[in-house]
Amino acid sequence: MVRAIAALVGAAFVFVLALALFGTVSDRIKNPPAETAAEFVQGRIEATTGSHLLNAGLSSDGVLGKYDRRQLQRGFQVYKEVCSACHSIRLVAFRDLAQIGYTAPEVKAIANQWQIEQPAPNPDTGEASTRKNIPSDHFPLVFANDIAARAANNNAVPPDLSDMTKARHGGANYVYSLVAHGYVKQPTDLVKEFPDIATPKGLYYNQYFANLNIAMPPPLKSDGQVQYADGTRPTVDQMAKDVAAFLSWTAEPNLEARHAAGLAAVIFLMIFCFLAWGAYQNVWRDLKH
Ligand code: HEC
Repeated sequence: MVRAIAALVGAAFVFVLALALFGTVSDRIKNPPAETAAEFVQGRIEATTGSHLLNAGLSSDGVLGKYDRRQLQRGFQVYKEVCSACHSIRLVAFRDLAQIGYTAPEVKAIANQWQIEQPAPNPDTGEASTRKNIPSDHFPLVFANDIAARAANNNAVPPDLSDMTKARHGGANYVYSLVAHGYVKQPTDLVKEFPDIATPKGLYYNQYFANLNIAMPPPLKSDGQVQYADGTRPTVDQMAKDVAAFLSWTAEPNLEARHAAGLAAVIFLMIFCFLAWGAYQNVWRDLKH
């Protein structure tokens, strides 16, 4: 009797859940969620210009990917010589650069020669002052505050780039596409169709930026903007790939350890599975016929 009641209650539950699921699914089919205006415009632009994110093809992609230290160093060089004029990477400390292959004296020299100094009170007078960076310092902010940042950048704040590849859909591929292949001529027929996307004065059309007009002037303008010591040709495309690789490292310096731990866990589970199967065979050996 109790069993029958339990089964009935269970069946009633399943029935209600199934009804709710069916209702939701059929409602979705009958009334698909309306596209936002921005999504619609983005979709049309992708369709006409084929502007899907490009793949930077980084060695750290995939479940077993590893960083290419030389590429990270080239990326750091691009960051240092180009992007650091406007963008900070405040979550990174100078000494972290040892992880991408710089020696202790090199790290010390990089910190020491960094253009922007650390804010520090004058030890004698207590007045606001600055001192040179040391390896344990984090990279200093570029602008004292958002007001200063806006004043220098056409009313836009250049975001901190430490976590940028985690913060945007597409990650490193987005950064690469944005800086190397985003600044194109605006398709005139699209502007006719959507007058709202006409680029206002002081902004730049960028087909990968969410609202299409970005306050960042094209940062990588021509091949050879930086000179690589390892002989790699510094094309705009290459510099963008390298800086995207560097920024994926700043966002996830532990990627390799994470990949290694994942692999170890999978191997362990495979061995464990085999052992469990062996134990099962052993325990039931005399009972099965
Ligand atoms: C002259 C200053 C300047 C330089 C140099 C510069 N940027 Fe920017 N960047 C900006 C500003 C300003 C914004 C904010 C744009 C906006 O909100 O419209 C920005 C935004 C960005 C964004 C965020 C876009 C988004 O989706 O929000 C990324 C990524 C970026 N920059 C990467 C770079 C890289 C990589 C470099 C170096 C190769 C670089 N920037 C050099 C000024 C600069």
